[in-house]
Amino acid sequence: MKENKLPQAPGSIGVFDSGYGGLTILRTLCTELPEYDYLYLGDNARAPYGTRSFDIVYQFTLQAVEYLFRRGCHLVILACNTASAKALRSIQQLDLPRLDPERRVLGVIRPTVEAVGQMTSNGHVGVFATPGTVASGSYEMEIAKLYPDFVTTAHGCPMWVPLVENGEAHKPGADYFVRQEAEGLMGKDPDIDAVILGCTHYPLLEDKIKRYLPSGVKTVSQGEIVARSLEDYLRRHPDIASKVTRGGKTEFLTTETADKFDAAARHFLHVPVHATQVVL
Ligand code: DGL
Repeated sequence: MKENKLPQAPGSIGVFDSGYGGLTILRTLCTELPEYDYLYLGDNARAPYGTRSFDIVYQFTLQAVEYLFRRGCHLVILACNTASAKALRSIQQLDLPRLDPERRVLGVIRPTVEAVGQMTSNGHVGVFATPGTVASGSYEMEIAKLYPDFVTTAHGCPMWVPLVENGEAHKPGADYFVRQEAEGLMGKDPDIDAVILGCTHYPLLEDKIKRYLPSGVKTVSQGEIVARSLEDYLRRHPDIASKVTRGGKTEFLTTETADKFDAAARHFLHVPVHATQVVL
């Protein structure tokens, strides 16, 4: 049998994103499930992933997952829709059996889709996401599996991640781009009554998104959904839960320089952050 060199002792829950967006998920995890330890990894030096090819997103995400495994994580959450859409299935099916069949990698799309059933009254669902997530068709496929009668319309928002990454989300210039995409989505299906914010950066634009969607259209953001789904997962999988350390501690890793990460991460978390730069 192949020797497994990964650490076997319990470790933190790994939370991975291409950049800062996953911090919106981490923030809710720390509030809702504060007892666990978390190890956040942002591949900021190579973000954004949203416009990259399938192969590259898969390759980068796999490197990140392997890194988090080597750092002791037994459970990794891909807190990035683009990585969940383009890499999760391949990692689960092709890589985990080889790396360590006992470790788990979870994404954010499936739990979001499960939750949207309760948000829409008429089954017309909109999705705002990166061009990469939209091109993958993942939301349409997952929604069709669970709710075959729903009509799903996905709409790519290429400017929204750069606005958030550059600290422009709350400035007036962002209104132009939010309004343009809100009108674009509703123009495709005026009956939409629930819109998934299918990118972890978008909660920072949520006030503006709500302003430019017709009143009565609900927005579905992922932090709470992912936290509830993780809680449920750990309850149903005591074997995995027993491999997660419980110290209420959060560490931050980035592929960018730490000072750059620390300054930007404050916008997302509203507390000082001290990251460590790593090479994947
Ligand atoms: N955070 C990623 C997502 O949720 C988008 C950012 C990127 O394009 O890298 O889709």
